[in-house]
Amino acid sequence: MTQSDSRNAQPLPDHCLDQLFREARTYYKWQDKPVSETTLRALFDLMKMGPTSANCSPSRLIFVTSPEAKAKLKPHLMAGNVEKTMTAPVTAIIGYDLTFYERYDFLHPHDPAGPRSWVEGKPEAIQKTAFQNGTLQGAYLMMAARSLGLDCGPMAGFDNAGVEKTFFPDGQIKANFLCNLGYGDESSLFPRLPRFAFEDVCEIA
Ligand SMILES: Cc1cc2nc3c(=O)[nH]c(=O)nc-3n(C[C@H](O)[C@H](O)[C@H](O)COP(=O)(O)O)c2cc1C
Repeated sequence: MTQSDSRNAQPLPDHCLDQLFREARTYYKWQDKPVSETTLRALFDLMKMGPTSANCSPSRLIFVTSPEAKAKLKPHLMAGNVEKTMTAPVTAIIGYDLTFYERYDFLHPHDPAGPRSWVEGKPEAIQKTAFQNGTLQGAYLMMAARSLGLDCGPMAGFDNAGVEKTFFPDGQIKANFLCNLGYGDESSLFPRLPRFAFEDVCEIA
C-alpha cells in the first residue's frame, strides 16, 4: 500500500470549506467570549506544521491579551485599528526572526550547515527568507484559527518600528502584521468585496 493509500486523504466536506474559506470573513467587532491559552496552544500546534523553506520556521509570535500589554500596543496602532484591537480577546503580533538560521541544528538536523550557508552573512537573503516564510506562517495562522472556529482580523496599519521597539527590543525580530483573534460579531460585517474569477488571473500552461 502506498503512503497516499494509507492516508486516504479526501477533499474536506463542504461545510469545512465554507468555514475555512467561503464564509470566513475579516472581523472588526468581537463577541464577549474569551480565547483560552489551551486554544492558543492548539492554534500554534497547527500553524507550525505548514511548510517553510528548509523548515526555517522564522515566525515569532506574541499573543497580546492582558490590558497591560494591550496598552503598550495601543500607541503604535493606526487610528482606525485602535477600537477593534482594544476590544479583541487576543491580538497576535506576527514577527519574523532575522537570526532564524541559528536554529538549523534543531530544525534541519541532517544538514544544518547547508541552508545556513545560503543566508549567513547575506542580509538580503536573510530578509527575503525570513519575510517570505514568516508571511506564509502568518497565513497558516489565520487558516489554523479558522479551522478551530476562531475568527481573524489581520492588520498592517501600525507603526512597525514602534511595535518592534516595544515587543522585540533585542532588534533581531521584525514585525510583519498583527492579527486580532476571537469570535467575531457578524453585525460588524459589510458585504464581501469582489474576488477575481479563475479566468481573470490564472492560466494553465
Ligand atoms: C495583511 C493584511 C493587512 C490588513 N490591514 C488592515 C488594517 O490595517 N486595517 C483594517 O481595518 N483591515 C485590514 N485588513 C483587512 C482586509 O481589508 C480584509 O481582510 C479584506 O478586505 C478581505 O475581507 P474579507 O475577509 O471579509 O473578505 C488587512 C488584511 C490583511 C490580510
